[in-house]
Amino acid sequence: MANPSPRRTLPLLSTPHKGGRSSLTCAFRCGNACAHEVSNPSDNAYFGDIVTEALSRRGMLRAGALGALVVSTGLVGAAAAVPAAADPGDKVKYKDDVVGGNGSGHSTGLTFTPVAPNKLDALTVPPGYDQSVVVRWGDPVLPGAPAFNFDNQTADAQAKQFGYNCDFVTFFPLGKDRALLWVNHEYTDENLMFRGYTDGTAATLEQIKIGMAAHGGSLVEIERVGKTGKWALVTSGRRKYNRRVTPATAMRISGPAAGSALLKTTADPQGRTVKGMLNNCAGGTTPWGTILTAEENWNQYFVGGNGVPENQKANLARYGVSTTTAIPSGSRRFDRVEERFDLAKHPNEINRFGWIVEIDPFDPDSTPIKRTALGRMAHEAATTTLAKDGRLVAYMGDDSRFEYIYKFVSKGRYIPGHDRNNRDLLDEGTLYVAKLTGDSPAAEIDGSGKLPSDGAFDGSGEWIPLVSGNKSFVPGMTAEEVLVFTRVAADKVGATKMDRPEDMERNPVNGAVYLALTNNTNRTAAQVDEANPRPSNRHGHILEIVEQKDDAGALKFAWSLPLVCGDPTDPSTYFSGFDKTKVSPISCPDNVAFDKDGNLWIATDGNALGTNDGLFVMPLKGKERGWVRQFMTMPYGAETCGPLVTDDQRSVFVAVQHPGEITGATPDNPSSRWPDGDQPRPSVAVAWHKQGKKIGS
Ligand code: FEO
Ligand code: CA
Ligand code: CA
Ligand code: CA
Repeated sequence: MANPSPRRTLPLLSTPHKGGRSSLTCAFRCGNACAHEVSNPSDNAYFGDIVTEALSRRGMLRAGALGALVVSTGLVGAAAAVPAAADPGDKVKYKDDVVGGNGSGHSTGLTFTPVAPNKLDALTVPPGYDQSVVVRWGDPVLPGAPAFNFDNQTADAQAKQFGYNCDFVTFFPLGKDRALLWVNHEYTDENLMFRGYTDGTAATLEQIKIGMAAHGGSLVEIERVGKTGKWALVTSGRRKYNRRVTPATAMRISGPAAGSALLKTTADPQGRTVKGMLNNCAGGTTPWGTILTAEENWNQYFVGGNGVPENQKANLARYGVSTTTAIPSGSRRFDRVEERFDLAKHPNEINRFGWIVEIDPFDPDSTPIKRTALGRMAHEAATTTLAKDGRLVAYMGDDSRFEYIYKFVSKGRYIPGHDRNNRDLLDEGTLYVAKLTGDSPAAEIDGSGKLPSDGAFDGSGEWIPLVSGNKSFVPGMTAEEVLVFTRVAADKVGATKMDRPEDMERNPVNGAVYLALTNNTNRTAAQVDEANPRPSNRHGHILEIVEQKDDAGALKFAWSLPLVCGDPTDPSTYFSGFDKTKVSPISCPDNVAFDKDGNLWIATDGNALGTNDGLFVMPLKGKERGWVRQFMTMPYGAETCGPLVTDDQRSVFVAVQHPGEITGATPDNPSSRWPDGDQPRPSVAVAWHKQGKKIGS
């Protein structure tokens, strides 16, 4: 539906963001979270294998989807031991065969010519490669979806079409040349979607409904083009798996907090069902072939925080929710369409968001499940692997400044192909939070980025148990309270405040776990520590975790920073000792992924070096460890999301999120016209080598 006042111009929303992102991004993506006070007021010290399921019930269908790490494990169903506190003094040593040494002969075979940083309104790839759009905002997902019409969009059409701001991307092969692609739709830029849009208060109700329907996720069938690494959307035929999930989709709440009084509302007096998911950022998959999608900045969708009972206000504030009468800038005013978004009337509704949601891509009629055992936070993602004894482990970051790193370890063990055993493994287990300790004297962490005298930002860590089923390990909090107000619980046990923990992935080759820490311009000189060694950290860094005995179920770990990002001429940067004259500048790592060779692919969000975001690759082993090279640049204003290198290593998918999201841009004055020369449209793209070679060669 066209806006009635197409020529009104958008007011500048705020001064430029302290990092590299447009202030427009801040208003729409995370409700200007950075402009608010840090929501972690705790006085915590500043330090303080996916198995290929070849014999699954769906057999080969799912086998290729599950990534590469094959673990040999005696898999028998048995209860996990009661978690014991780790002894932080017992440092875990890096194994030489995990990291290797610079100077060893290992070569990655990454020989592509890096792309140069730029500000072009284009998706650029190295010489010898090509790229194309697979699916864009408004493309048909469900049969009967009308053709996209920018000036005549409707909520009904949007609910059948591909949503906005694509983020997490995952891929389930349906044979060699067909696949299912799942994509999250994190949030919407109404001011780029509607002519004359000013804010949620002035928006038409239809515009608000369109925005709602453009959230959630899409599952689409795609097909290989010819014999290349190019893939395209299937737009005809039955497409029996295609699905849209939105804030209107019926979902089930499961796990230890299901049925809690904290989750009960007028619409759901049992506290066991909820409508929809919000702000789904990154995600993961399970060994049994389901999707895990992470509700991130869900706190921005509610108003009326002033009207909640007084004793709830501290918990709201801890999640960055306003408790004043002011309507937050950038509010989409969902409450004008559905009363449940007004906290004064429905104070518990917000507790029903902020979870990891599990979705079965192979059953279009299945009900998505919010798994409360994994805690509630600004979930960036949940990436899974197996402990040595077969228990399922999910690694998770809470993406806000000074937040924490978590992992969940299931009680039961994963049994390949035993669906009834596996299906609810995410409902019972222990949730842990990470505490990191540096091994260098505090005086040597001087904020300059200079390495301490032992030659590394590194140290040891422990996983502190928070809750296991109905048992809380946090004094003064019940298990339900720990799960619903996980940040509050983690504050109480001395978890380590990190510089925006984002995506985590386990390396299929060396078994170590890697976490992107995007940035934190609020960290002061007095707050630096060995794991977050720079004040006013604009460019972020990468954390490498080596679990004790390489067991993802361990309670202790060693850690190191293999990459401290920025312009390589900036002396505060570190590229694992690799020759800095040969690396690409990199800023604000966000989503990460591995190829089968164990190279880390890094997507950036908010490049603070003044050029567009991009996709980079960094080897982690041997003489090429730290050799960061840029593989792609995004169109103007866009962030790189969801990188995925297919198992055959002939295709790399990226989600191009919010092209043209620059303060002052409007549909009548767009800052990007990617991909079609018209209005910018968030899209998933694929890149491939024109001669069919392995990605990166
Ligand atoms: Fe949605 Fe943390 O990026
Ligand atoms: Ca050290
Ligand atoms: Ca992101
Ligand atoms: Ca990832």
